[in-house]
Amino acid sequence: MHRGAFVVLLIYASRIGVPVETHPVISSSKENTRISEDVAAQRLSLLREQMNIYGIDAYIITTADVHQSEYIANRDMRRSWISGYTGSAGTAVVTLNEAALWTDSRYYEQATLQLSDDWVLMKSGLTSTPSLQVWLTTVLAANTTVGTDPEITTYSQWTTWNAVLAASNISLLAVEDNLIDIIWTDQPDYPMDAIFDHPIEFAGLSREEKLANARIAMAEADVDLYVITALDEVAWLTNLRGSDIPNTPVFRSYLLITNETATIYIPSPETRLNETLIEDLTGAENSSFAIADYENIWEDLEIAGELATAILLPSPYSYALGISYRVYTTVPSSKVKSATSPVLLVKDRKTEVEANGMRNAHIKDAVALCQFLYILEEAINNGEEYDELRAVEELSALRAAQAYNFGDSFDTIAGYAANSALPHYTPTNETNVVIGTNSTFMLDSGGQYYDGTTDVTRSMHYGTPTEEQRDTYTALLAGCIDLARLIFPVGQSYSTTDLLMRSQLYRLGRNYGHGSTHGVGYFLSVHEAWNATYDVNFFGSQEPGYYQEGSWGMRLENLVVVVPANTTYDPEETFLTFETVTLVPYARNLIDETKLSDDQLSWLNEYHATVRLKVGAELLRQGHNATYDWLVEQTKPITRPRNVYRRFNFVALP
Ligand SMILES: *[C@@H]1O[C@H](CO)[C@@H](O)[C@H](O)[C@H]1NC(C)=O
Ligand SMILES: *[C@@H]1O[C@H](CO)[C@@H](O)[C@H](O)[C@H]1NC(C)=O
Ligand SMILES: *[C@@H]1O[C@H](CO)[C@@H](O)[C@H](O)[C@H]1NC(C)=O
Ligand SMILES: *[C@@H]1O[C@H](CO)[C@@H](O)[C@H](O)[C@H]1NC(C)=O
Ligand SMILES: *[C@@H]1O[C@H](CO)[C@@H](O)[C@H](O)[C@H]1NC(C)=O
Ligand SMILES: *[C@@H]1O[C@H](CO)[C@@H](O)[C@H](O)[C@H]1NC(C)=O
Ligand SMILES: *[C@@H]1O[C@H](CO)[C@@H](O)[C@H](O)[C@H]1NC(C)=O
Ligand SMILES: *[C@@H]1O[C@H](CO)[C@@H](O)[C@H](O)[C@H]1NC(C)=O
Ligand SMILES: *[C@@H]1O[C@H](CO)[C@@H](O)[C@H](O)[C@H]1NC(C)=O
Ligand SMILES: *[C@@H]1O[C@H](CO)[C@@H](O)[C@H](O)[C@H]1NC(C)=O
Repeated sequence: MHRGAFVVLLIYASRIGVPVETHPVISSSKENTRISEDVAAQRLSLLREQMNIYGIDAYIITTADVHQSEYIANRDMRRSWISGYTGSAGTAVVTLNEAALWTDSRYYEQATLQLSDDWVLMKSGLTSTPSLQVWLTTVLAANTTVGTDPEITTYSQWTTWNAVLAASNISLLAVEDNLIDIIWTDQPDYPMDAIFDHPIEFAGLSREEKLANARIAMAEADVDLYVITALDEVAWLTNLRGSDIPNTPVFRSYLLITNETATIYIPSPETRLNETLIEDLTGAENSSFAIADYENIWEDLEIAGELATAILLPSPYSYALGISYRVYTTVPSSKVKSATSPVLLVKDRKTEVEANGMRNAHIKDAVALCQFLYILEEAINNGEEYDELRAVEELSALRAAQAYNFGDSFDTIAGYAANSALPHYTPTNETNVVIGTNSTFMLDSGGQYYDGTTDVTRSMHYGTPTEEQRDTYTALLAGCIDLARLIFPVGQSYSTTDLLMRSQLYRLGRNYGHGSTHGVGYFLSVHEAWNATYDVNFFGSQEPGYYQEGSWGMRLENLVVVVPANTTYDPEETFLTFETVTLVPYARNLIDETKLSDDQLSWLNEYHATVRLKVGAELLRQGHNATYDWLVEQTKPITRPRNVYRRFNFVALP
């Protein structure tokens, strides 16, 4: 899956300061319903009462949790609650007289529909739309006060807003009580399910070793306090997992590491970690962990900050993440060293155990997806009315039947016809359609497994595709193949490979408005932060697409791992290439083999042979013989007469 629109890419690009991550923030909205004008007005008036009590003239409500997670718990959907607009991206600002909501082009329509008349929609991405801080200077007088929650606001947001507001004598105030939490009476609780061990046979490296490595990184960075706030980093380092956040097996937590201590802050730890696990965590001879209550982080951080000589705070610009304003201001700023989190840099280069786990998870995942594709094809051939929502449910159930599955890794994107032209579409009861035979069906989905995380997109046509659709699919496939075959030096940056991915599509005069790759975690976030340069055992997606608005769309996505390349004159293996770990056949009726080069066609045939070998064996082992027979058909070699004209390629004809 990929991030939605150029607009968003630019926003993130400027926030992360590295070549762009490409995944979309998937809509958390289930339905496009609208709250009544009365309810909307009442919520605003309750908020304004609190603003008066706290002496502020405007209040900012972002879409985030205190760890800057990509997906957030229902309790953290404060911006949805106050505005009635339920899309996954947006920021609300309420003054004593006005209410404004910023969101990007993916959500203009949804926001227009859902916002009550009390709200103005601010269309981010249009040059005519002011930023929220500039807008505030136009609606507020000098010497007024803007409030925000310092735990949710990142340090970088704070400095960006404050620079503009201060120039107009408007103060930005950290209001520690969240005003929405005060007035939202039926606010859901956070999930409090058990936190569990990620066993060493899956994790590969013990938590003690990971901790020792983190301390080496601290010594190299010359710091004696390291503050970890990103949930996937805590989960990875401690070899613990949970289910506090949808689709991502993490738990709400902070981790403070000093030379002597490593303390994990967890809400209600005594009820969520069993005794064996607590003993494992706290009993190690040298590198043991301490467990503390989540609420104690602030007091402890202040003390640790006083005792430390230098403090590593993950740089706000290293990724869309970034530490909160409250974390930053709890420690003495003179001691702060800002740098990319060492855990982030280590985590995105998988260990051998992790890399092999990922490969194995992808075989199981391919079994589930092939079973599904076979079922769907049969259903449509038999004239059944099979709709998008049923596809989402059935695929999820098939994944759940695979060993060590822990749910889906994101909300499945399953769109037919016009819906497939929406890159981040997830079906709802209102938009659900039957998958027919006269347009394309795009399916972007993934699973969480103890031994890996998957993310795969295939596009199908269950009737007769047009020549234009075949040309487009073939160009997308050719781009994937060219990139998969690329050999490049260590440290190659993502921005160069993106061009290669698009070049075949450019020949058709076409393009797509999102990036082509993102990092992938190991039984963690399907979108994992990385520094956008390739090194061995980095796992990421390769995903070009094309979307014809209102009509049809298609995307192809594989996960790949970076491996040493075999070259003629480089015995040192300083040249790298990609191994494709996603193992799902392509749609044969959408491939025009006359437009693939010899090299591309032999790659495709070798790929299909590998799929048949690895996934086929697992299908038979699991007794899915009918799906196996289907797979054999899908993976037969594709041949063509020699000397056909190849319109797309530079390759010299024999
Ligand atoms: C901001 O405050 C300073 C003094 O504190 C004052 O000189 C200046 O005129 C003020 N600017 C505005 C726009 O009110
Ligand atoms: C804001 O306060 C400053 C300093 O007290 C004062 O100079 C300025 O006139 C005030 N501006 C307004 C618009 O009240
Ligand atoms: C404690 O939790 C671990 C998994 O996190 C599990 O393997 C173990 O069986 C549990 N022990 C008890 C006594 O429940
Ligand atoms: C922490 O450990 C590092 C490396 O082992 C050492 O250089 C540093 O002096 C220690 N700091 C403190 C405050 O003990
Ligand atoms: C703990 O540290 C001591 C001294 O450095 C070392 O001899 C011992 O092997 C370590 N124990 C473990 C379990 O790592
Ligand atoms: C990215 O991380 C790798 C591995 O840690 C490092 O070698 C490389 O210099 C980093 N590149 C950038 C651009 O930060
Ligand atoms: C669709 O509606 C049904 C029945 O009201 C409900 O149970 C289900 O959760 C809805 N599905 C979605 C995706 O919103
Ligand atoms: C596609 O099929 C649907 C019914 O399955 C029909 O309503 C629609 O008109 C068809 N569209 C085209 C372009 O043929
Ligand atoms: C390189 O060659 C070795 C030995 O033949 C083989 O095992 C490996 O898979 C090759 N690597 C690539 C990336 O083709
Ligand atoms: C499935 O195929 C395998 C291998 O061809 C065969 O041994 C087995 O009997 C088949 N199972 C069924 C249920 O047909």
